[in-house]
Amino acid sequence: MSKLIIRQMEEGDLSQVCAIEEETFSMPWSRKSFQETISYYHTLFLVAELEGKIAGYAGCYQSLEEAEITNIAVKRELRGQGIGRKLLMELMRLGKERGAFAYTLEVRVSNQAAIHLYESLGFISFGIRKNFYERPREDAMIMWRHWEV
Ligand SMILES: CC(C)(COP(=O)(O)OP(=O)(O)OC[C@H]1O[C@@H](n2cnc3c(N)ncnc32)[C@H](O)[C@@H]1OP(=O)(O)O)[C@@H](O)C(=O)NCCC(=O)NCCS
Repeated sequence: MSKLIIRQMEEGDLSQVCAIEEETFSMPWSRKSFQETISYYHTLFLVAELEGKIAGYAGCYQSLEEAEITNIAVKRELRGQGIGRKLLMELMRLGKERGAFAYTLEVRVSNQAAIHLYESLGFISFGIRKNFYERPREDAMIMWRHWEV
């Protein structure tokens, strides 16, 4: 694969980010949500850039030593090439530098690709949130990853 650059999400990325968000999720975040979120000091949002185009993104909210991963998506035609893994590893590396030692997220119980990815990075299931998602209605698996400090 040509060189993949992982860097902070900027306002100029939002058109491409929103296009991926809309092709991926049934209840996509709006441009305004991304715009506001990346301006907060306690968030960390990254993009993966391939040949000058946005290939994917991931983001989290940090609260003291914990961070919640709220977004991750890779452009459909570029999935399965390691981009999602690189985004998450960089998100957690930078988050750790900022003092986040535990990561949590929610994932649809049917989303095997994402669950495999999270498990391969050390996330463990900590329970189910019933009917958490809509369109379609589905349970969420709550996952955590802790660092030994
Ligand atoms: C989840 C997602 C971000 C993964 O990104 P990706 O770039 O395709 O993932 P990677 O290529 O880095 O794969 C990493 C690991 O994920 C797992 N994985 C990826 N695609 C998979 C698939 N189709 N089936 C099963 N496992 C899969 C594997 O464990 C893989 O590790 P391996 O390459 O050693 O086998 C991507 O599939 C996506 O955008 N999905 C739609 C959005 C989404 O579901 N986001 C998560 C919401 S909680």
